[in-house]
Amino acid sequence: MRNFSLIFKQFSRSVLLIAGFAFWGFSNAYAQADAAKGEAIFKSKCTACHKIDQQLIGPALGPQLTEETDDKYLIKWIQNNQALIAAKNPKALAIYNKFNQAGMTVFTELSDADVTNVIAYARAEWKTIKEKPVVAAGATGAAAETGPSSMVIWGLVAVIIIAFIVILVLNRVVATLERLLLKGKGVVIDEEVEPTAEEVAEAKKKDLIKRILKNKKLVFFIIICGTLAMGSWGWVTLWNTNVHTGYQPVQPIKYSHELHAGTMKIDCQYCHTGAYKSKNASIPSLNVCMNCHKVVKTESPEIHKIYDALGYDPKTQKYDSTAAKPIQWIRVHNLPDLAYFNHSQHVKVGGIKCQTCHGPVQTMKEVYQYSPLTMKWCIQCHKRTEVNGKGNAYYDSILAAHDKIKKGEKVTAAVLGGIECGKCHY
Ligand code: HEC
Ligand code: HEC
Ligand code: HEC
Ligand code: HEC
Ligand code: HEC
Ligand code: HEC
Repeated sequence: MRNFSLIFKQFSRSVLLIAGFAFWGFSNAYAQADAAKGEAIFKSKCTACHKIDQQLIGPALGPQLTEETDDKYLIKWIQNNQALIAAKNPKALAIYNKFNQAGMTVFTELSDADVTNVIAYARAEWKTIKEKPVVAAGATGAAAETGPSSMVIWGLVAVIIIAFIVILVLNRVVATLERLLLKGKGVVIDEEVEPTAEEVAEAKKKDLIKRILKNKKLVFFIIICGTLAMGSWGWVTLWNTNVHTGYQPVQPIKYSHELHAGTMKIDCQYCHTGAYKSKNASIPSLNVCMNCHKVVKTESPEIHKIYDALGYDPKTQKYDSTAAKPIQWIRVHNLPDLAYFNHSQHVKVGGIKCQTCHGPVQTMKEVYQYSPLTMKWCIQCHKRTEVNGKGNAYYDSILAAHDKIKKGEKVTAAVLGGIECGKCHY
């Protein structure tokens, strides 16, 4: 009989462990594989006409796919919308007419699984986009991007609670079975298993806390929950140490990107010239502002801050350099010195848009840090982004070097770009 209980105990422990780990691994792997595959398909086939958060030629896919929950219909639509329209499907006709019968490409080459992945990606991406501004205002966060998602942690807790209940129930069943078996054999019932009436009465007299403390399973359960809660809190906190997503300092002049880069559509390059040419994007000197503000809004106290900083007198239109005191813009993005980041490599060579890293700056009244700027963030993008090597002098030189190596010719550091000024000076 003891063997029976022992086996059961080992069995329940394994159930707990396996359930926990399986759920953890499953939820991680499942969520990532899906969205990553969907993202690749979305980028190669859909971006010509769709954005996640904005209407382009077709509807904004984030809200569209979140509102429309009939996945079977969506799969049919994405694979062959023409067939649905020909069959006079009411939903299909409605959206077709809403977009003035613009007509979407047919994607019969996509499997059901492919389409499901795209849908999963669009919904997940929309969810993160929607949550972004909240993060920005709250100054900290990014747990979703840097640590395990809270869903995983709560899922794990739920699995453990369920496993625990199952074990409790099974334990009862085993105890009853044991007693029945013993009874059948005519053996005296173990006192440990079933307390006598006296013991029960005594226990009732003791106060609640003592009883709880006596209940080893409950104590064990509370300890497990406590450890999990503390552990996940510590885990998320550690991951977010030194992550400043959402950092939005108040700047000395109320300069608005929403107005200048958004409404007025001034190109980022006009002010941040360096981003295309060098390591630093650089903050424009106030002389750049003066190109316009010598005549625009000359009465505004905010613009007078520019004048004061330059020692400019709007009445005489003269500069007095002795009165100048530079504006101290507060830096928003700041990598530690141990990491080297070069703008021109990403913007010019890699062809990456400013917004990919800095978010929708053209809608920001005040700039905030949009991306976490963690090492994980850099690495993930490097793993996912396909490099376009065509018509790029740098890659041409690398390919030329490969050819030379294949032919057994001499390759010098110069061939690999070792005499370019920027390699040694920055
Ligand atoms: C050539 C442009 C084009 C491409 C490429 C394209 N779409 Fe569309 N899509 C549209 C248009 C236009 C509509 C609006 C309906 C219409 O006019 O047919 C639309 C509508 C949709 C809808 C809404 C259907 C509904 O009833 O809610 C979904 C979902 C969708 N597209 C998904 C995708 C996906 C996923 C891809 C990539 C695999 C894709 N589209 C590629 C143009 C396009
Ligand atoms: C008219 C000039 C001007 C234009 C155009 C402009 N910026 Fe700026 N930008 C500034 C100034 C001035 C600052 C410093 C003050 C601040 O942070 O708001 C700044 C700050 C920034 C910062 C934060 C820098 C830091 O401290 O880390 C980012 C990121 C940025 N700009 C991106 C952009 C992008 C992207 C565009 C194009 C969509 C753009 N800017 C267009 C003038 C400009
Ligand atoms: C291409 C021209 C142009 C440049 C360059 C420019 N601005 Fe402006 N800015 C404007 C215009 C036009 C307005 C006024 C919009 C309006 O009518 O409200 C404005 C408005 C402003 C305002 C709001 C003033 C107020 O009281 O409403 C501030 C502050 C400002 N700019 C700061 C700057 C700074 C700082 C720079 C340099 C980094 C700069 N601007 C560069 C054209 C420019
Ligand atoms: C691949 C991601 C990425 C892209 C694309 C990118 N930036 Fe940045 N940006 C960064 C990082 C990372 C920093 C922080 C750099 C540091 O602290 O050394 C930064 C810093 C800045 C700053 C602060 C001043 C400086 O040079 O450090 C400005 C302004 C800026 N970026 C503007 C832009 C503009 C404008 C564009 C588009 C032309 C752009 N960035 C494109 C990642 C990016
Ligand atoms: C949005 C995607 C993206 C992000 C985010 C990003 N990078 Fe990159 N990075 C690229 C791409 C694409 C290239 C290749 C550009 C090329 O040479 O064609 C690259 C190239 C580089 C290179 C040159 C590699 C080489 O072999 O010469 C360095 C260094 C680099 N990145 C550093 C960083 C750092 C540091 C960060 C984080 C602060 C970062 N990157 C974030 C996309 C990204
Ligand atoms: C292989 C690395 C390398 C390359 C490539 C390189 N430099 Fe230099 N450069 C150096 C070193 C090291 C020094 C410092 C030498 C010293 O202090 O005596 C230097 C010094 C200089 C100086 C003098 C700075 C001073 O303050 O005295 C200038 C100017 C300069 N380089 C310009 C360039 C230009 C322009 C290019 C591209 C055509 C270039 N370098 C390419 C390594 C390099």
